[in-house]
Amino acid sequence: MEGKHYINGEWTIYGDEVIQVMNPATGEQVGTVPNGGEAEATAAIEAAAAAFPSWSKTTVYERADLLMKWHDLLLEHKEEVGEILTKEMGKPLAEAIGEIEYSASFISWFAEEGKRLYGRTIPASKEGKRIQINKQPVGVVVSITPWNFPAAMMARKMAPALAAGCTFVAKPAKLTPLTAVRIYELAEEAGFPKGVINLVTGSASKIGKVFTSHPDVRKLTFTGSTEIGKELMKQSSETMINLSLELGGHAPIIVLDDADLELAVEGVMASKFRNAGQTCVCGNRIYVQSNIVDKFSKMLQEATAKLKVGNGLEEGVTIGPLVDKDGYEKVEKHVQDAVSKGAKVLIGGDGKTENEAYFYNPTVLVNANSDMLVMNEETFGPVAPIMSFEKDEEAVKLANDTRFGLAAYFFTDSMSRGTYLAENLDYGIVGWNDGSPSTAQAPFGGMKESGIGREGGQEGLEAFVETKYISIKL
Ligand code: SIN
Repeated sequence: MEGKHYINGEWTIYGDEVIQVMNPATGEQVGTVPNGGEAEATAAIEAAAAAFPSWSKTTVYERADLLMKWHDLLLEHKEEVGEILTKEMGKPLAEAIGEIEYSASFISWFAEEGKRLYGRTIPASKEGKRIQINKQPVGVVVSITPWNFPAAMMARKMAPALAAGCTFVAKPAKLTPLTAVRIYELAEEAGFPKGVINLVTGSASKIGKVFTSHPDVRKLTFTGSTEIGKELMKQSSETMINLSLELGGHAPIIVLDDADLELAVEGVMASKFRNAGQTCVCGNRIYVQSNIVDKFSKMLQEATAKLKVGNGLEEGVTIGPLVDKDGYEKVEKHVQDAVSKGAKVLIGGDGKTENEAYFYNPTVLVNANSDMLVMNEETFGPVAPIMSFEKDEEAVKLANDTRFGLAAYFFTDSMSRGTYLAENLDYGIVGWNDGSPSTAQAPFGGMKESGIGREGGQEGLEAFVETKYISIKL
C-alpha cells in the first residue's frame, strides 16, 4: 500500500522521501507513506483554516449525516482495515477488527452528541439584561496519535472535533500511518467537503513544531508519552493553543480478599494482555491481598498459559509482537531487573526475536516489590508482576505512589471497601470489577502527569468548543 498526504481534498506528495512501514510480526515492508515536514503541515493547516468558516456554519444535522456515512463505510470495511492495522501494528486480527468497531463507535456516538451541544441562558440580576452562554467550535484542530491504537485514537479525537464544527489535521504515528490513510479514504468517500479533514504523514518533530506554532491552529490534541506531551506543552506556550493531552499511565490493579477470583482473573487478563500490554491503561502492577496471593497467582498463571503468541494474522493468536526492538528491550530489562531483585517467574520470562520481529511471552511474576522497575515505570509489554499487601489502606497508598494517574482497577464484592478504594484512588479512570472500562460515552483521561482533559463522553465534545458569554442590555 502506498499512502499519500490528504490536503485540501487531494491525495498528494511533496518530495521523494518516504517512510517504509514494516510488519512487526515478519520484518517485511507493508507499504510506504511520504516523509512530510513543515511544508505539508503548513499546507494542511491552511486548508483547514480556509474550510473552517463554512464548515462551522453547517448544521449539526448535516455534520451528523456525514459522520454516520463515514461510520457505516468504516464498519463495511472493518475486516479490510483491520487487516492493514494488524499488518502494520501487530495486534491480533480479531483485536484489530475490534479496534475498528471501537473507532466507529466514537463516530456514531459523537454524531449524536453533537446535537446536544447546548448553550444556556442565566437569569440576570438587573432588569433589561440577558446573560447568554454559547458554545462554538474552537477552530482548526491538529492531532498527533500513537501507534498502539492507530484507528481508535484518531477517531476519538476527529469525531467530536468534526461534530462540534471544527476542521481537522491528523498526524498519525510514523510506525502505523497506513490505517489512518485508509480511514481517510473512507472519510473522503463519505463526502466531507475539501479542507475539512486533512492528513499529513512524516516527521513528528517537524510537523509538531508547525502544529504548535502556526497562528491558525486553535487546538492540539495528543495521545502519547508524558515526555513528548510536556515538550508539546512547552512549545505551545507562545501560541496559547488549547491542549488535550492523553499521556502515559502506570495502572495498579488491586485484588481484595473478598473478590470473585474468577472475575478478577478475567479482568486482569483483559486489562494486562490486551494489545500485548501495549496500552496506556493496561494494568502494570498487581497488588493482591496476602491471604489469597498464592491462589490468585496460580489462577492467573493458568489463564496466561492459554494465550498464544505469534503473527496476529494467524488463527488463534492472542498476543502479537511488540512493536519494535526498543519496546522488546524495555520489557526484557523490566523482567531481568525484577528477577535480580527477588521476583520469581511463574510463566514466560523470555521472548524470541527473528527477522526484526520481537515476540515476548506473556509473563507472570510473583514476589514483586516496590524497588523493581516494573512497579515504577510503564512496561508496555505482556508482564504481570504480583506483589502482596495486608491492608486496604496500604494498597491505596501503593497504588497512588506514582506520578501517573490514568487508570486503576480493583476487584472486591464489598460495597464499602470498594467505595473507599474508588474514592481514594487518584486516577481519572477507575475499573471496579472491570478490566475494560473504555467506551465512547465515558470520559477517558488522566490525573497528574497522565495528562490534561478528557476524550470520549460529553467531556470529549466540550474539549472542542469555546464558551462564549454574551451579555445583552435591552
Ligand atoms: C490507550 O492506550 O491510550 C487507549 C486505550 C483505550 O482507549 O482503551
